[in-house]
This record gives sequence, C-alpha cells and structure tokens, in this order.
Amino acid sequence: MQKEIDWNNIDLNSEPPAQEPMRQYYFMKKAREIVMEESRKLGRRLTADGETFGCQMNAKDSEKLIGILGTIGFEMIDDESADLVFYNTCTVRDNANQRVYGRLGLVHSMKKKNPHKKIALCGCMMQEPGVIEKIQKSYPFVDLVFGTHNIYKFAELLVTMYHSDRMVIDIWKDTDKIVEDLPAQRKYPFKSGVNIMYGCNNFCSYCIVPYVRGRERSRNPKDIIREIEALVADGVVEVMLLGQNVNSYGKTLDEPMSFAGLLQEVEKIEGLERIRFMTSHPKDLSDELIQVMKTSKKICRHLHLPLQAGSTRILTAMNRRYTKEQYLELAHKIRREIPDISLTTDIIVGFPGETAADVDETIEVVKEVEYDNAFTFIYSRRTGTPAAAMPNPVSDAEIKENFDRLLKAVQETARKRVGRLTGEVHRALVEEINEHDSALVSGRLSNNTIVHFPGDASLVGKLVNVKLVEAHGFYYIGELQ
Ligand code: SAH
Ligand code: SF4
Ligand code: F3S
Repeated sequence: MQKEIDWNNIDLNSEPPAQEPMRQYYFMKKAREIVMEESRKLGRRLTADGETFGCQMNAKDSEKLIGILGTIGFEMIDDESADLVFYNTCTVRDNANQRVYGRLGLVHSMKKKNPHKKIALCGCMMQEPGVIEKIQKSYPFVDLVFGTHNIYKFAELLVTMYHSDRMVIDIWKDTDKIVEDLPAQRKYPFKSGVNIMYGCNNFCSYCIVPYVRGRERSRNPKDIIREIEALVADGVVEVMLLGQNVNSYGKTLDEPMSFAGLLQEVEKIEGLERIRFMTSHPKDLSDELIQVMKTSKKICRHLHLPLQAGSTRILTAMNRRYTKEQYLELAHKIRREIPDISLTTDIIVGFPGETAADVDETIEVVKEVEYDNAFTFIYSRRTGTPAAAMPNPVSDAEIKENFDRLLKAVQETARKRVGRLTGEVHRALVEEINEHDSALVSGRLSNNTIVHFPGDASLVGKLVNVKLVEAHGFYYIGELQ
C-alpha cells in the first residue's frame, strides 16, 4: 500500500510543518530531491537494502522503512552492496546482537570501496545506551543511528544524514506518540501484519523488550479498522494483529475496548478471510476472548501461548504472574472450548537458579498440553533486566542437557499432535513456491501448520482445499482438491 502524497502542495521553500504526518511528507519530498541528485551524479538509480532481525514487530517496522525508501525514489534490492543499507536490529538474546556486529564488519569493507555508500542502524538494539557507545567507538563508519520510537521520522533523518559528514544519532527514551498514514511496502501482497499496540508493561524479569520498546500504548480501533479495510481493498486476505501482549489491548485508550471487542470489529470486515494475532500473555487471556474465538468464522484455530517455564518457582522469579496450575487450567479450558485449536509456545531454558527438577516440570506441562510446536530458547543475560543480577547461573553443560531433554519431549508431542489431521481436507492459504522443490507450493492451514503440495505460482495468495496426505514431523505433504 503506497500512500498517495500530493507533492505539488508541498512547498520546500517554506519551513517544515510542525505536525505529523505532514512534516514527514515535506521531508520525503526533500529526500526525493537528494536521491534524484545523487542518482544523476552516479548515472543510475540509487539502490537500498533492508536487513531485518527479530520478531514480527521488526518485520512490520521494516515494511514502513522500505515504504519510505520507495517513496523517496530508491530501488529496493536484496543485496548489501546497495547504496544504502539499513539494519533493523533485535536485542532479545545476545546472539541477535552478535549477528549485527558481524554484518557491520562485512559492509565496512564494501564501504571502503564505495565511499558514497550509507549505512543506517535502527531497531531494538539501538535503544541500549551501551550499544550506542560501542558503535561510536568501534564502528565510526556508520552514517545514521535511530531507535524504535522514531522510525516514522526516517525521511527527515535521511535528509539530515545526507547533509552531515558525521554519524547522525537520534534515540528517544520513550514516546506516547503514534504517527498514522505513512507509506509502507508489504512483503506479501495477500497477507499483512497490523500493529494494534506498541511497547510492553509486563517486565518479565529476563526480558529487555519493555526497555527498548517503551510503555504499552494501543492504537485507536478506528485507525486499525481503516488500515485493514485498505489492505483488504488492496488484495489482503489474512491479517496478523501484532502486539507484545495483545490480551491487554485497549486499556490505555480514552474509550477502553477489550481485545475480544476489537476482534469482533475486525471480523466484520468484508473480504477479509483470516485473522491471526500475536502474542497472548496467559495472565490476561479472557473468557470473552475464548468465546469470541470459538464462534468466529475468521479467527484462525491457533493460539501462541508462551509458557516460558513449567515450575511455579521459576515462573515467580520470571515475574510471569501465573502458576503452573493456572497455566494448565487455562490450556485445558481452551482445548475444551475449541477442540480443534493448535497451541504453540515459547520456553526458556537456563533461567538463573533453574534446576533439572524445574525442567522436569516444564516437560510435564509440554506433555500435558501437547503443543503443536514450541520455540525453545537458551536464557540470555540482558544487561539492565532484574534477572541479570540474580544468583546461581546455570552451567552450559546443565543447560545443554536440560535443553536436549526438553527438545525431545517437544518433538514427540508435536509429531503426535500435528499428524492428527492426516487424510482430512483443509483450507490452506498458499504463501509461496517451495524453497527446495519448485514443483511444490507451501500453504498454511488455519491452525498454522504448513502443507507442501504440487502446484504453481498461479496458486500463490489463494485459499484452496488440500488433502493432508502424509505428516512429516511439523508439516504435511498434501494434494490439491
Ligand atoms: N511478548 C512476547 C514475547 C516477545 S520475545 C511474550 O511475552 O510472549 C519472544 C520470546 O523470546 C519470549 O517469549 C521468550 O521466550 C524469549 N526471550 C525473551 N527474553 C529472553 C532472554 N533474555 N533469553 C532467552 N529468551 C528470551
Ligand atoms: Fe518480554 Fe514479558 Fe513483555 Fe513478552 S510480556 S515482551 S516476555 S516483558
Ligand atoms: Fe527483538 Fe525487539 Fe522483537 S528485541 S524480539 S525485535 S521487539
């Protein structure tokens, strides 16, 4: 969805408007002139590349950044040799950070050969003061650094960057602002993420997200509905409503609205076929939501319900605010009300003080809930979080042993659960040509399981009936009906 901007009505001889998004339209026009001038000097179009790390929030932010780059005249390519490269970073675990530093080494050598090349860094990692210091000291060739709260200002920041011969840094600690109506370039024509809220107030003791994404703020339901209607008019059939804790949607609005209430409004949008959402915090999952999901024709039969740990002692230390028993009760209630739902989860292994007996309890929960899939992570110490100061770190050897045990349990239950639909016919949204075998396409069932089946590019973006012929671990091989 490219925003129609009336360029003729923007006067670059006057001062930039104070109000958003008009101010950004002004800077987009200014940036367009710079890009045109640079292109003229080079004798070709300027190219840009965006590299995205982390979660769906970052993927969505990158679509906005790419939308702005397209609007100001860059040609997007998938290659870090581009004239401008941005890295939209993640800092949830340390390995995400290390990957970014590795990539910076690579683009530095490219920049030495191409001095006009520009490098921008943004996203969650940039909200950490220690990271900024490190970049200033060890990566002085970076041209632009900004954070998670001011991505809407990308055009304005680019103008500053092109007029400066020093690293431009603009990081905000937090914001209460939500800027609407900026351009965005979608990765898929038929499905899209839609932000419904930003930030997080939960402060799970291991997690850095509340520090780098700021306080929770919900988007106005009218703006959300308007965006989805426009997406549907543009060919989107599936939306993923995005928030760190969607179950607490609406609490910060002038006219509070529940997440279940929002879902009912989204359900009414004609032409929209499927609704997904991410992520649900178990402590805030309401009976109202379960009932709305149960009767809905559009909400997918999938719930991602992060467990993090199975032992109440560890859950308390993690500040998750539910016990093992409360989680199990909730999972059973959901399965009772919506038997065909698939449940997936996130689990952390190696939280400070976690013993093999604690992990046994996690495995118990995995076996009892029978997840369709579980993402298992090794605990990563994040500076500034309460857990970073907790005693009794778990040794690497213990973590490995516990992790392997857990993974085995996850794989066993997933194989059993995923395979239960073998022989049945289900609707699948075809997402792409199979990466490994171009005679196959890959589609997603309502319950989020993937099915690969013979087909061609004409099927991509369509909802089709597929017979699930054979289950292979986490996916199916099927046949178009
Ligand atoms: N808001 C979401 C999670 C966002 S982060 C939620 O609460 O479910 C995605 C996942 O990363 C988390 O569910 C958690 O399992 C994992 N994670 C977060 N911080 C971590 C850390 N310090 N070490 C390892 N895994 C972590
Ligand atoms: Fe992190 Fe917890 Fe917020 Fe999820 S709910 S983003 S794990 S603090
Ligand atoms: Fe990473 Fe930021 Fe998402 S830290 S997981 S990209 S919110």
